[in-house]
Amino acid sequence: MPKRPFVNRLNDLARRDWLLFQKSWFVHNPPPRSADVRLHPAKFPETLAGEFIGFFTKAGETVLDPMMGTGSALVAALEMGRRAVGVELQPKYAAIAQERLAAVGAPDYRVVCDDARNLAAHDIGEVDYVLTSPPYWDMLRMKGWETQKERAQQGLDVHYSDDERDVGNIEDYERFLEELVPIYRVAAEHLRPKRYLTIIVKNVKKGGTIYPLAWDLGRRVGEFLALKDERIWCQDNQRLAPYGMGNAWVSNTMHHYCLQFRKA
Ligand SMILES: C[S@@+](CC[C@H](N)C(=O)[O-])C[C@H]1O[C@@H](n2cnc3c(N)ncnc32)[C@H](O)[C@@H]1O
Repeated sequence: MPKRPFVNRLNDLARRDWLLFQKSWFVHNPPPRSADVRLHPAKFPETLAGEFIGFFTKAGETVLDPMMGTGSALVAALEMGRRAVGVELQPKYAAIAQERLAAVGAPDYRVVCDDARNLAAHDIGEVDYVLTSPPYWDMLRMKGWETQKERAQQGLDVHYSDDERDVGNIEDYERFLEELVPIYRVAAEHLRPKRYLTIIVKNVKKGGTIYPLAWDLGRRVGEFLALKDERIWCQDNQRLAPYGMGNAWVSNTMHHYCLQFRKA
């Protein structure tokens, strides 16, 4: 029997690469950061963004990140022959993104420096994919992280800003969700039908309590986009800390959820 031809409406991948991406977990250890992006306290790697963009778009299509930080998703998109649009609240990070995008040398990008909740005011038109990662609540405000101490000593940011519009500065968890979810709602309005939105996020541990941010977003964003399950991003190059040793179960959390949603 001849093999049925592979008709691929979603991306430009070969059958084997499509299949490999379907595994529900993957290991990706971020490569060391270049000097231009070290100021930002929590970015995702372009290599990881590239894998998602490669699966959820074809060449020439448009990728949006409404909280783009240093523009990692946009840089990956441009390098892969896609168009890119990003929003970032902080001028210092938007400027880094702008510089990195200009260095790629392709003209098909747009950087907006504003509160993502104002996205609708910027006439960005329709997009084919949204790839984004929020502040993990106010986790960067928690005291006592060794990495934070080292960063502070080097004059690098340990949190994004003191701006009250920065959702990473909202102390109350429920209010944080109430302010964050509308950002995805407005991004979803720009998404073409049948296309995908990916949120990269972790559950948060604070004061001995687990706040299931990933699961809460699955449920709340799932009210206006269909939740299509997660891919679990594992890191296996981090030092283990002896939390709760001899006393209680406290995990060393080395995974993030990459939640996929699809528009009707
Ligand atoms: C997890 S970081 C994104 C990092 C990005 N993926 C990267 O690779 O650089 C979240 C970003 O959301 C931004 N942010 C927080 N509140 C915002 C808001 N209301 N509108 C737009 N951006 C916001 C922060 O300044 C921060 O850069």
